[in-house]
Amino acid sequence: MSLLEDILKTEATATAELQAVASAEELEAWRIRYLGSKGAVKTAMQSLSQAPKEDKPALGKAANEMKNALQAAFKVRTAELADSAAPRAAGPRIDVTLPGRRPAVGHRHIITQTIDEICEIFGRMGFTVATGPEVEDEHHNFEALNIPPAHPARDPLDNFYIDPVTMLRSQTSTVQIRVMENTTPPVRIISPGRVYRPDTVDATHSFMFYQVEGLYVDEGVTMADLKTCLDQFCKTYFGREVATCFRPSFFPFTEPSGEVDILFHRPDGSTHWVELGGCGMVDPNVLEAVGYDSERYTGYAFGLGIERMVMRKHNIPDIRLLFESDVRFLHQF
Ligand code: FA5
Repeated sequence: MSLLEDILKTEATATAELQAVASAEELEAWRIRYLGSKGAVKTAMQSLSQAPKEDKPALGKAANEMKNALQAAFKVRTAELADSAAPRAAGPRIDVTLPGRRPAVGHRHIITQTIDEICEIFGRMGFTVATGPEVEDEHHNFEALNIPPAHPARDPLDNFYIDPVTMLRSQTSTVQIRVMENTTPPVRIISPGRVYRPDTVDATHSFMFYQVEGLYVDEGVTMADLKTCLDQFCKTYFGREVATCFRPSFFPFTEPSGEVDILFHRPDGSTHWVELGGCGMVDPNVLEAVGYDSERYTGYAFGLGIERMVMRKHNIPDIRLLFESDVRFLHQF
């Protein structure tokens, strides 16, 4: 057989064998047999050196064509085999008998749950829920609350001003004024919501936090009513064993004023008092400014920090945990 016939026959055999290849192992064996460093193509190339000089161009052409054809056919067959194996190779096998994965279901944040609970408790005491804007004017945040322009609480460094007369409210007491401006007594409302102060963030302080305001104005309302209301609230929300403490304080819009503290238990067994909120009898100046007759009506007001309540009830040592949105933490509640 001439060298040329030999080349043509090798190509034909190799092509036929390649079509019969059915697995990756067989494909690799074929590649070694024909395209490998000691394979048939290489042998054919090497044998060209012994061919007569005048035959070399034609033989070289035939050998190169065989090599290119077999390499191309090998590529095509590799792709075909990969394709047919794809459904098994591309992904994990599916066991349809396994139970499905439950989709993660979210729930209301503990602060939202607490606000609902607070509204529920005060609702049973006859309070309705009022709301007010978070972007407030100075009049409702300060002036109407008896806080004059020179008062240190109005310092621009202690508030988030948007322009000289507009700000993010620093307290929910603004809602007292908005409600009284539009209602004739008796008034009995609570108002939960967000407030903003550029306070340094630490374990018990945030620059944004929630307060719940309370206001009750009617004939004959006294300090004893205020104490009873807050005491009842604390016992219902925290449990009857909770220790609370009322101490005298000062707010420009209440007279007399007080503060209510609750006892926290540290993990090491020691205790410390944390301020829950401010309260007092509504200052007659505030009542007169909204057109109420302060000789006839008296009232009490309070503003409690909601995060402080949540932290005390659920034993949360740091307020930042409530705002960091770590679902592993939030899922507990
Ligand atoms: C007030 O904001 C008054 N408006 C409360 C009030 C209402 C008094 C009605 C009288 C009548 P104070 O600044 O103390 O008061 O804030 C009330 C409560 O908000 C605090 O006792 C505390 O529980 C909470 N609080 C205050 N600052 C922060 C803060 N940076 N982070 C988290 N909670 C805070």
